[in-house]
Amino acid sequence: MERQQPIGLFDSGVGGLSIAHAIRQRYPEENIIYFADLKFSPYGVKSKNIINKRSDQIVDFLINEGCKAIVVACNTATVSSISRLRSKYSVPIVGVEPGIKPAALHSKTGRVGVLATERTLKSESFESLKLRCSTEATVISKACPDFIPLVEGLKHNTDQAFDVAQAYIRPLLLEGCDQIVLGCTHFSFLRSTIEKVVEGKATVIDTADSVALELGRRLGKADQLNSKGGRVKTQFWTSSDSETALKAISALWGDEVDLSEVGALT
Ligand code: DGL
Repeated sequence: MERQQPIGLFDSGVGGLSIAHAIRQRYPEENIIYFADLKFSPYGVKSKNIINKRSDQIVDFLINEGCKAIVVACNTATVSSISRLRSKYSVPIVGVEPGIKPAALHSKTGRVGVLATERTLKSESFESLKLRCSTEATVISKACPDFIPLVEGLKHNTDQAFDVAQAYIRPLLLEGCDQIVLGCTHFSFLRSTIEKVVEGKATVIDTADSVALELGRRLGKADQLNSKGGRVKTQFWTSSDSETALKAISALWGDEVDLSEVGALT
């Protein structure tokens, strides 16, 4: 495996770009391939079987593109598929999970609010994460399906987004939550809207940077961090509707975007 080989990331759509940004920030010499599975978006209301199948197909694709490591840049796909992916592939596979542990440790009220997709909140791994932190804090969770189209539609900084965020988050604040955990990678892009709703009454916790650090630790251990310099490439792939995807990815990536649409994955 060459160190210049890319890191592959995937999500149902643009949410995982929050993790791609953190990786680009920490490891600017790494080449990146990002896959937005818009044909199957949103994942949060899909069955575990569908998400498993998509995860397998996308990771096969990314490995065929030469990726030296995979980041499952989606909480929903992580809880559904990461163990299976790790048993199937030999490259390092890093996932993302809601930051309940740091939130529980920092909470003064002992109440932590978690915003995530329905699928994440229903998963066994979320239950066991909650259990592991149960001596420090009570977790109050909220499924937030309306956040996904707001981010995909680039409406994350609008009054509409504020109203939706208020409806989701206010009950958590009223229940005494002093930590609000972003348990879906799309929600990172709503952070400033969420902070307006929270008005300093709670700390907003995001794990994008921790995922980047964990990836760096895994690559460092395998002597696979790229330090060769040269022109760094970021390539984007989508499973459908490249016009809409290009608009959203360009806006949220904030740089020139090289996007291709993949045919059917097998
Ligand atoms: N961004 C994803 C997550 O972190 C999923 C959003 C969706 O497709 O429902 O869970």
